Amino acid sequence: MIDGNANANVAVTGACGRMGGLIIENIVRNDDMRLSAAFDITNIGKDAGDMAHVGTLDIAVSDANDIKEVLARTNTDVLIDFTIAPATVANAPAAAECGVNLIIGTTGFTEQQRAVIDEAILKNNVAAVISPNYSVGVNVFFRILKEAARSLSGYDIEIIEAHHNQKKDAPSGTAMKAADVISETLGGKEYVYGRNGLAPRDKEIGIHAVRGGDIVGDHTVLFAGDGERIEIKHQAHSRQAFAGGAVKAAAWVYGAEPGIYTMDDILGF
Ligand SMILES: NC(=O)c1ccc[n+]([C@@H]2O[C@H](COP(=O)([O-])OP(=O)(O)OC[C@H]3O[C@@H](n4cnc5c(N)ncnc54)[C@H](O)[C@@H]3O)[C@@H](O)[C@H]2O)c1
Repeated sequence: MIDGNANANVAVTGACGRMGGLIIENIVRNDDMRLSAAFDITNIGKDAGDMAHVGTLDIAVSDANDIKEVLARTNTDVLIDFTIAPATVANAPAAAECGVNLIIGTTGFTEQQRAVIDEAILKNNVAAVISPNYSVGVNVFFRILKEAARSLSGYDIEIIEAHHNQKKDAPSGTAMKAADVISETLGGKEYVYGRNGLAPRDKEIGIHAVRGGDIVGDHTVLFAGDGERIEIKHQAHSRQAFAGGAVKAAAWVYGAEPGIYTMDDILGF
């Protein structure tokens, strides 16, 4: 399903975050790659392995401001970025300028931020996978949504996503991708975010974000018609669904031709 390429030097930005730590754990467990560097804006100088609870690796967390110098010194092939949109807008172009391929998992980009990242990737002839969700299940979910939208085009469509109370962006990148998949299938739809006060429904896709506790990530798409409804739902039980996919994507992008790819390319959809 996913072809890997051996012996990649892989670095991680957001190394001390929820996703970064788990990605480091997955890299360490993978015989075909090694952790070359770890970047964050906190815990600088601490051991990245200790921070990820995988034992000391003798790789200190580097200041993200030194990213170019450290990527060059460590012969990094691929950078995996799960940080926050303004950080990725600085770190991804810096890596691309060093000839480093990219896995971008960060969500919440504005169109302008995304354009800056895309331009840097294309200008520097590197390969990058950019996906709001690296789980295999969610990417199958997108395909099912396309099929459902084709068959249920007259139905009212609502997207409800739920995440933990620390998530910064809303709605989730995955909810927005689900909306885009459906909208493209139906030839363009307006989006309405939540409803408040007088808010009669029209032909829009309604999008709703729930935040609470430690919910890893739920996405439900509701197709409601006269006398019936279908709910298509994906639930992530743990962040391993994303971290495992991101590290497999890193093995894939190591040997890829320059360009911008999605999980569809990696999964062969
Ligand atoms: N694509 C996917 O499959 C997927 C899955 C889960 C989360 N995400 C996204 O990944 C991102 C991170 O999620 P998280 O839960 O790990 O967040 P988090 O807040 O736990 O971790 C983010 C880390 O990035 C660090 N950081 C901030 N600015 C930085 C900079 N300039 N350079 C380097 N590091 C910097 C922070 O200090 C923190 O350690 C979010 O955008 C989230 O939506 C994507």
